[in-house]
Amino acid sequence: STHGAGHHAGHQVLVASNRGPVSYEVQEDGSLAARRGGGGLVSGLSAIGPDSDALWVCSALSDGDREAVRRGVGEDGVRMLDIPADVHADAYNGIANSVLWFVHHMLYQTPLEPVFDAEFRRQWASYETYNRAFAEALAQEAAEGAAVLVQDYHLCLVPGMLRELRPDLRIGHFSHTPWAPVDYFRMLPDDIAEQLLHGMLGADRLGFLTRRWADAFTACCTAVVGGPGGTEIGVHGLGADADFLRKRSHEADVAERMAALREEIGAGRRTVVRVDRTELSKNIVRGLLAYRQLLEGRPEWRERVVHVAFAYPSRQDLAVYRDYTAEVQRVAQEINSRFGTPGWTPVVLHVKDDFARSLAAYRLADVALVNPIRDGMNLVAKEVPVVSDDGCVLVLSREAGAHAELGDDAITVNPYDVIGTADALHAALCLPAAERAERSKRLAAAATALPPAQWFVDQLEALRG
Ligand code: G6P
Repeated sequence: STHGAGHHAGHQVLVASNRGPVSYEVQEDGSLAARRGGGGLVSGLSAIGPDSDALWVCSALSDGDREAVRRGVGEDGVRMLDIPADVHADAYNGIANSVLWFVHHMLYQTPLEPVFDAEFRRQWASYETYNRAFAEALAQEAAEGAAVLVQDYHLCLVPGMLRELRPDLRIGHFSHTPWAPVDYFRMLPDDIAEQLLHGMLGADRLGFLTRRWADAFTACCTAVVGGPGGTEIGVHGLGADADFLRKRSHEADVAERMAALREEIGAGRRTVVRVDRTELSKNIVRGLLAYRQLLEGRPEWRERVVHVAFAYPSRQDLAVYRDYTAEVQRVAQEINSRFGTPGWTPVVLHVKDDFARSLAAYRLADVALVNPIRDGMNLVAKEVPVVSDDGCVLVLSREAGAHAELGDDAITVNPYDVIGTADALHAALCLPAAERAERSKRLAAAATALPPAQWFVDQLEALRG
């Protein structure tokens, strides 16, 4: 047996995710610089806090990370796995972000995609290897009966693998993405679909961000493997961290960014703000087209509104993501050439990641545009109402998980409907100040109902039963 007395010294709580809380970069002088990770998952899990006894197992993602592992550089409570670069690339770029991300967000252009060929099978073997490395590390580090919380689509096979190595553990898995509808999920080869579901069903408990994604998962289980069996399924809608955001957004660097942004926007103008990782599900291009439609169809807004769009590069190893960034830049440029005047830039687009500037934009936002094609939750929708100085109107896609919690006080859009989105922007910009403030207050309350620390504790308690 692989478990026994030796494990009593291990950790009682373990978390596993592809991206960890920090990543490293080798500087010119050879030293390593640490940088915080991004995305909803890291925001949620950072609540674990540095003083708990929990261990966070994550993957080395870059050469800097692998160098850090080799030099023994790291943070307390974090174990970074030195996965070979080619295995990680196949698992992360190939399977996780090209196949599973596309399936759950329904991003394929189906006349030509997907094609599950020999290359896919080769990458799948790496995905298995990568998942096994996590399962083995967790099996090594966990105390007898410990709780293990596995995160997201990168690690779907871990629960099943870990169950075999350590039947004594309480194993949970949480999905930060949507879950695909049955017919879409079944594009995957049957044996792969089965393996994914069986891998996840190795957990005692599975968590999703909304009831909708949990139900979709259950439907896939029923269709592919006869049902979810004894695995419990729960919903935990990760909320925004109000205390952190309010404090952080009033620091000096944010005030500086606000002054610079005000310069770019120009005095007396309204702002439509969006902040995203540039990623295909975020629907940034249709958002720009809707804004163009607003200026086209309602010329009274020309010179009076600015679209502040921050589109931060993401997963740039993949050509589709790079091409999408280029398309965002092209359309923004086109709008500025078509409508811009010497004193007015209709779209202020920034692509260089800057958290302080994001918070500055949140504070200045009159309208927040969150129009994803499909999104597990979308934390920006929850963060802007918390941070905005004068309250903001939220224009929100009905396909974002956040819509289940914020829909009543947002202006809802169909993300494919550019005219409808333009109308929604107009309605948002016209909303009387008093109603806007009321709605924004209710949005902020709903957005912070389940702060990250509580989100984590709830799952842990449910898993321990
Ligand atoms: C989503 C996923 C996370 C991921 C994040 C950032 O929120 O659910 O697992 O960490 O995107 O993406 P990246 O590929 O940069 O980790």
